[in-house]
Amino acid sequence: MISVKGVQKWFGSHQALADIDLEVSTGEVVVILGPSGSGKSTLCRTMNRLEPIDGGVIEIDGVPLPEESAELARLRSEVGMVFQQFNLFAHMTVLENVMLGPVQARGVDAGEARTHAMDLLTRVGVESQADKRPAQLSGGQQQRVAIARALAMNPKVMLFDEPTSALDPEMIKEVLDVIVELTKGGMTMVVVTHEMKFAQTAADRIIFMADGRIVEESTPDVFFTDCKTDRAREFLAKVL
Ligand SMILES: Nc1ncnc2c1ncn2[C@@H]1O[C@H](COP(=O)(O)OP(=O)(O)OP(=O)(O)O)[C@@H](O)[C@H]1O
Ligand SMILES: [Mg+2]
Repeated sequence: MISVKGVQKWFGSHQALADIDLEVSTGEVVVILGPSGSGKSTLCRTMNRLEPIDGGVIEIDGVPLPEESAELARLRSEVGMVFQQFNLFAHMTVLENVMLGPVQARGVDAGEARTHAMDLLTRVGVESQADKRPAQLSGGQQQRVAIARALAMNPKVMLFDEPTSALDPEMIKEVLDVIVELTKGGMTMVVVTHEMKFAQTAADRIIFMADGRIVEESTPDVFFTDCKTDRAREFLAKVL
Protein backbone atom coordinates (compact mmCIF):
# COMPACT_ATOMS: atom_id res chain seq x y z
CA MET A 1 0.00 0.00 0.00
CA ILE A 2 2.89 2.36 0.79
CA SER A 3 6.21 2.01 -0.97
CA VAL A 4 9.12 4.26 -0.08
CA LYS A 5 12.31 3.63 -2.05
CA GLY A 6 15.66 5.36 -1.71
CA VAL A 7 14.12 8.55 -0.38
CA GLN A 8 16.42 11.49 0.29
CA LYS A 9 15.43 14.76 1.90
CA TRP A 10 17.65 17.76 2.56
CA PHE A 11 16.95 20.93 4.50
CA GLY A 12 19.75 23.15 3.22
CA SER A 13 22.93 21.27 4.04
CA HIS A 14 21.21 19.04 6.61
CA GLN A 15 20.15 15.62 5.38
CA ALA A 16 16.88 14.83 7.16
CA LEU A 17 16.20 11.55 5.32
CA ALA A 18 19.02 9.37 4.00
CA ASP A 19 18.14 6.56 1.66
CA ILE A 20 14.87 5.49 3.29
CA ASP A 21 13.32 2.22 2.12
CA LEU A 22 9.99 1.21 3.63
CA GLU A 23 7.17 -0.99 2.40
CA VAL A 24 3.86 -1.05 4.27
CA SER A 25 1.29 -3.71 3.37
CA THR A 26 -2.44 -3.20 3.27
CA GLY A 27 -3.80 -3.36 6.82
CA GLU A 28 -0.36 -3.24 8.38
CA VAL A 29 0.37 -1.00 11.38
CA VAL A 30 3.89 0.40 11.41
CA VAL A 31 5.07 2.39 14.42
CA ILE A 32 8.02 4.73 13.93
CA LEU A 33 10.21 5.33 16.97
CA GLY A 34 13.37 7.35 17.36
CA PRO A 35 15.00 10.27 19.12
CA SER A 36 14.06 13.89 18.49
CA GLY A 37 15.33 15.13 15.14
CA SER A 38 15.74 11.65 13.66
CA GLY A 39 13.39 12.41 10.75
CA LYS A 40 10.15 10.74 11.87
CA SER A 41 7.89 13.72 11.11
CA THR A 42 9.72 14.47 7.89
CA LEU A 43 9.18 10.90 6.70
CA CYS A 44 5.46 11.12 7.53
CA ARG A 45 5.16 14.43 5.76
CA THR A 46 6.84 13.16 2.62
CA MET A 47 4.28 10.34 2.43
CA ASN A 48 1.46 12.75 1.66
CA ARG A 49 3.81 15.22 0.03
CA LEU A 50 3.55 17.95 2.60
CA GLU A 51 7.32 17.82 2.02
CA PRO A 52 8.73 17.30 -1.48
CA ILE A 53 11.60 14.80 -1.70
CA ASP A 54 15.03 15.29 -3.24
CA GLY A 55 15.52 11.72 -4.40
CA GLY A 56 13.83 8.33 -4.51
CA VAL A 57 10.24 7.31 -5.13
CA ILE A 58 7.13 7.09 -2.96
CA GLU A 59 4.06 5.22 -4.15
CA ILE A 60 0.64 4.89 -2.52
CA ASP A 61 -1.31 1.87 -3.75
CA GLY A 62 0.98 1.56 -6.76
CA VAL A 63 0.71 5.20 -7.84
CA PRO A 64 3.71 7.54 -7.47
CA LEU A 65 3.05 10.69 -5.48
CA PRO A 66 1.86 13.41 -7.84
CA GLU A 67 3.69 16.66 -8.53
CA GLU A 68 1.00 19.11 -9.47
CA SER A 69 -1.68 20.55 -7.25
CA ALA A 70 -4.89 19.08 -8.73
CA GLU A 71 -3.52 15.59 -8.27
CA LEU A 72 -2.22 16.52 -4.85
CA ALA A 73 -5.72 17.20 -3.58
CA ARG A 74 -6.70 13.66 -4.56
CA LEU A 75 -3.64 12.26 -2.83
CA ARG A 76 -4.33 14.16 0.36
CA SER A 77 -7.76 12.60 0.47
CA GLU A 78 -6.28 9.12 0.07
CA VAL A 79 -3.71 9.65 2.79
CA GLY A 80 -5.27 10.92 6.00
CA MET A 81 -2.99 12.66 8.44
CA VAL A 82 -3.42 13.45 12.11
CA PHE A 83 -0.91 15.72 13.85
CA GLN A 84 0.00 16.60 17.39
CA GLN A 85 -1.98 19.82 16.97
CA PHE A 86 -5.53 19.10 15.96
CA ASN A 87 -5.89 22.04 13.51
CA LEU A 88 -9.67 22.03 13.55
CA PHE A 89 -11.42 25.09 12.13
CA ALA A 90 -12.39 27.16 15.18
CA HIS A 91 -15.32 28.97 13.56
CA MET A 92 -17.07 25.76 12.51
CA THR A 93 -18.93 23.19 14.54
CA VAL A 94 -17.46 19.75 15.10
CA LEU A 95 -19.90 18.30 12.58
CA GLU A 96 -19.04 20.96 9.97
CA ASN A 97 -15.33 20.25 10.43
CA VAL A 98 -15.90 16.58 9.60
CA MET A 99 -18.25 17.33 6.67
CA LEU A 100 -16.01 19.95 5.05
CA GLY A 101 -13.55 17.73 3.15
CA PRO A 102 -16.10 15.46 1.47
CA VAL A 103 -18.35 18.40 0.52
CA GLN A 104 -15.61 20.76 -0.70
CA ALA A 105 -13.02 18.42 -2.16
CA ARG A 106 -15.28 15.62 -3.34
CA GLY A 107 -18.55 17.38 -4.08
CA VAL A 108 -20.44 14.97 -1.83
CA ASP A 109 -24.04 15.99 -1.17
CA ALA A 110 -24.40 17.77 2.21
CA GLY A 111 -27.03 15.34 3.54
CA GLU A 112 -24.88 12.34 2.73
CA ALA A 113 -21.78 14.00 4.18
CA ARG A 114 -23.68 14.79 7.37
CA THR A 115 -24.85 11.19 7.81
CA HIS A 116 -21.34 9.86 7.24
CA ALA A 117 -19.85 12.49 9.57
CA MET A 118 -22.29 11.58 12.37
CA ASP A 119 -21.42 7.88 11.93
CA LEU A 120 -17.74 8.73 12.27
CA LEU A 121 -18.29 10.98 15.29
CA THR A 122 -20.20 8.09 16.88
CA ARG A 123 -17.36 5.73 16.05
CA VAL A 124 -14.84 7.96 17.85
CA GLY A 125 -17.26 8.57 20.73
CA VAL A 126 -17.97 12.30 20.38
CA GLU A 127 -21.37 12.30 18.66
CA SER A 128 -22.88 14.29 21.54
CA GLN A 129 -20.44 17.15 20.77
CA ALA A 130 -21.42 17.48 17.10
CA ASP A 131 -22.92 20.97 17.35
CA LYS A 132 -20.22 22.49 19.56
CA ARG A 133 -17.19 24.51 18.47
CA PRO A 134 -13.80 22.81 18.84
CA ALA A 135 -12.78 25.15 21.68
CA GLN A 136 -15.66 23.80 23.80
CA LEU A 137 -14.14 20.29 23.69
CA SER A 138 -11.32 18.71 25.66
CA GLY A 139 -8.03 18.07 23.86
CA GLY A 140 -8.78 14.36 23.69
CA GLN A 141 -12.19 15.03 22.20
CA GLN A 142 -10.72 17.45 19.66
CA GLN A 143 -8.14 14.91 18.59
CA ARG A 144 -10.87 12.30 18.11
CA VAL A 145 -12.72 14.82 15.92
CA ALA A 146 -9.50 15.31 13.93
CA ILE A 147 -9.34 11.53 13.41
CA ALA A 148 -13.00 11.49 12.29
CA ARG A 149 -12.26 14.36 9.91
CA ALA A 150 -9.40 12.42 8.30
CA LEU A 151 -11.54 9.26 8.06
CA ALA A 152 -14.36 11.21 6.38
CA MET A 153 -12.34 11.19 3.15
CA ASN A 154 -12.24 7.36 3.18
CA PRO A 155 -8.45 7.33 3.07
CA LYS A 156 -6.46 4.27 2.04
CA VAL A 157 -3.77 5.13 4.55
CA MET A 158 -3.71 6.99 7.87
CA LEU A 159 -0.57 8.72 9.10
CA PHE A 160 -0.37 9.78 12.74
CA ASP A 161 2.43 12.07 13.92
CA GLU A 162 2.53 12.06 17.72
CA PRO A 163 -1.26 12.24 17.99
CA THR A 164 -1.24 12.20 21.80
CA SER A 165 1.81 14.35 22.59
CA ALA A 166 -0.21 17.51 23.20
CA LEU A 167 -2.73 15.79 25.48
CA ASP A 168 -3.04 15.56 29.22
CA PRO A 169 -2.35 12.03 30.49
CA GLU A 170 -5.98 11.21 31.22
CA MET A 171 -6.92 11.95 27.61
CA ILE A 172 -4.19 9.92 25.96
CA LYS A 173 -5.92 6.60 26.45
CA GLU A 174 -9.22 7.66 24.89
CA VAL A 175 -7.38 8.72 21.71
CA LEU A 176 -5.16 5.62 21.63
CA ASP A 177 -8.26 3.44 22.06
CA VAL A 178 -9.73 4.99 18.90
CA ILE A 179 -6.49 4.33 17.01
CA VAL A 180 -6.41 0.74 18.26
CA GLU A 181 -9.99 0.27 17.01
CA LEU A 182 -8.82 1.48 13.58
CA THR A 183 -6.03 -1.08 13.54
CA LYS A 184 -8.62 -3.80 14.14
CA GLY A 185 -10.68 -2.47 11.25
CA GLY A 186 -7.84 -3.21 8.83
CA MET A 187 -6.68 0.36 8.18
CA THR A 188 -3.13 0.73 6.86
CA MET A 189 -1.37 2.98 9.34
CA VAL A 190 1.93 4.63 10.08
CA VAL A 191 2.13 5.99 13.62
CA VAL A 192 4.88 8.12 15.11
CA THR A 193 4.52 7.95 18.87
CA HIS A 194 6.32 8.05 22.18
CA GLU A 195 3.68 5.77 23.75
CA MET A 196 5.71 2.62 24.18
CA LYS A 197 2.88 0.49 25.49
CA PHE A 198 0.85 1.35 22.40
CA ALA A 199 3.86 0.56 20.18
CA GLN A 200 4.31 -2.79 21.91
CA THR A 201 0.70 -3.87 21.64
CA ALA A 202 -0.67 -2.25 18.47
CA ALA A 203 2.26 -2.36 16.02
CA ASP A 204 2.79 -5.13 13.51
CA ARG A 205 6.26 -3.72 12.94
CA ILE A 206 8.55 -1.20 14.62
CA ILE A 207 10.79 1.10 12.60
CA PHE A 208 13.54 2.73 14.63
CA MET A 209 15.07 5.86 13.09
CA ALA A 210 18.20 7.79 13.98
CA ASP A 211 19.96 10.55 12.02
CA GLY A 212 17.57 10.32 9.09
CA ARG A 213 18.04 6.59 8.60
CA ILE A 214 16.12 3.46 9.43
CA VAL A 215 18.46 1.79 11.89
CA GLU A 216 16.30 -1.13 12.98
CA GLU A 217 13.17 -2.79 11.76
CA SER A 218 11.54 -5.67 13.61
CA THR A 219 8.46 -6.96 15.37
CA PRO A 220 7.66 -5.24 18.68
CA ASP A 221 8.55 -8.42 20.59
CA VAL A 222 12.05 -8.47 19.14
CA PHE A 223 12.57 -4.71 19.29
CA PHE A 224 11.64 -4.33 22.94
CA THR A 225 13.49 -7.39 24.20
CA ASP A 226 16.39 -7.90 21.82
CA CYS A 227 17.21 -4.82 19.76
CA LYS A 228 20.40 -4.99 17.77
CA THR A 229 22.00 -1.55 17.85
CA ASP A 230 23.43 0.67 20.59
CA ARG A 231 21.32 3.56 19.27
CA ALA A 232 18.11 1.64 19.87
CA ARG A 233 19.28 0.38 23.29
CA GLU A 234 20.16 3.94 24.37
CA PHE A 235 16.77 5.16 23.16
CA LEU A 236 14.89 2.41 25.01
CA ALA A 237 16.87 3.02 28.18
CA LYS A 238 15.61 6.61 28.14
CA VAL A 239 11.96 5.99 27.30
CA LEU A 240 11.14 2.78 29.16
N1 LIG B 1 11.19 22.80 7.66
C1 LIG B 1 12.42 22.50 8.09
N2 LIG B 1 13.47 23.30 7.82
C2 LIG B 1 14.73 22.97 8.21
N3 LIG B 1 15.03 21.88 8.92
C3 LIG B 1 14.03 21.05 9.24
C4 LIG B 1 12.67 21.31 8.85
N4 LIG B 1 11.89 20.31 9.30
C5 LIG B 1 12.72 19.46 9.96
N5 LIG B 1 13.99 19.90 9.93
C6 LIG B 1 15.17 19.21 10.50
O1 LIG B 1 15.19 17.88 10.02
C7 LIG B 1 15.54 16.97 11.05
C8 LIG B 1 14.42 15.96 11.23
O2 LIG B 1 13.29 16.63 11.78
P1 LIG B 1 11.94 15.88 12.14
O3 LIG B 1 10.97 16.91 12.53
O4 LIG B 1 11.58 14.98 11.01
O5 LIG B 1 12.40 15.01 13.40
P2 LIG B 1 11.49 14.10 14.36
O6 LIG B 1 12.14 12.76 14.39
O7 LIG B 1 10.08 14.19 13.97
O8 LIG B 1 11.75 14.79 15.79
P3 LIG B 1 10.71 14.99 17.04
O9 LIG B 1 10.71 13.69 17.80
O10 LIG B 1 11.35 16.08 17.84
O11 LIG B 1 9.38 15.36 16.49
C9 LIG B 1 15.82 17.80 12.28
O12 LIG B 1 17.19 18.03 12.35
C10 LIG B 1 15.07 19.09 12.00
O13 LIG B 1 15.69 20.18 12.64
MG1 LIG C 1 8.37 14.96 14.89
